[in-house]
Amino acid sequence: MRFALLPLGVSFLITQVLADGASILTAMTTITNATLALNTTLNSFPSNPELAIGDIAPLLVDSVNLLDDINNGVTVATQSANLTLPETIEVAQATLNLSTAVSTTLSNLMRTKANFDKLKVITPVVLVNLKLENAASERFGAAVVAKVPPAFQAQALSLLAPIEASFNTTIAYYS
Ligand SMILES: *[C@@H]1O[C@H](CO)[C@@H](O)[C@H](O)[C@H]1NC(C)=O
Ligand SMILES: *[C@@H]1O[C@H](CO)[C@@H](O)[C@H](O)[C@H]1NC(C)=O
Ligand SMILES: *[C@@H]1O[C@H](CO)[C@@H](O)[C@H](O)[C@H]1NC(C)=O
Ligand SMILES: *[C@@H]1O[C@H](CO)[C@@H](O)[C@H](O)[C@H]1NC(C)=O
Ligand SMILES: *[C@@H]1O[C@H](CO)[C@@H](O)[C@H](O)[C@H]1NC(C)=O
Repeated sequence: MRFALLPLGVSFLITQVLADGASILTAMTTITNATLALNTTLNSFPSNPELAIGDIAPLLVDSVNLLDDINNGVTVATQSANLTLPETIEVAQATLNLSTAVSTTLSNLMRTKANFDKLKVITPVVLVNLKLENAASERFGAAVVAKVPPAFQAQALSLLAPIEASFNTTIAYYS
């Protein structure tokens, strides 16, 4: 009996650890950091006239990491308890930070497209990744907004709108 109760207790503890505003904040910072890593990689993307297939490897690694982090964020936010008011304020601040990171990185991605065009395979790969990241971001946003107190949900959605708009512009640019 005691042994049978142990796993239940452990999984309850893990759920508690995963499931609060602080974990949503950590998830958002992780996503922001992954976005900035992608930006750094874009900034060091080779500008030589000939590209090798290997030149896109760091970009793909960063994109996959970012997608992974966003998907983890969806799990964390889905499992989270409702946010308190102080947590909501912190999450709003983290959303603004994320939004800046996303919009400047996606602008950078549009600027770098001219470099990518030297190797035809890159642009379609970037487009696929953008669509996946956009869809994951929307799921993450929806999962977080659901945990915001109802009175602040409209504002939370308006903080997310620029992220969605940046994705829309960049996806259109790559399509
Ligand atoms: C994000 O990056 C900052 C600055 O490099 C670092 O201090 C912080 O620990 C990172 N946070 C996460 C959750 O990775
Ligand atoms: C937002 O970014 C600022 C400046 O990098 C940082 O000091 C602050 O801790 C961040 N806030 C959150 C909630 O991530
Ligand atoms: C991303 O890189 C671009 C180009 O160097 C830079 O202008 C922008 O500020 C960077 N974004 C962030 C959030 O650091
Ligand atoms: C969380 O808030 C929603 C309203 O946004 C409410 O329907 C739900 O019952 C709350 N959940 C808990 C566990 O308090
Ligand atoms: C982004 O595009 C989608 C699909 O076309 C659209 O439903 C959504 O309203 C757009 N969002 C913004 C903020 O432009």
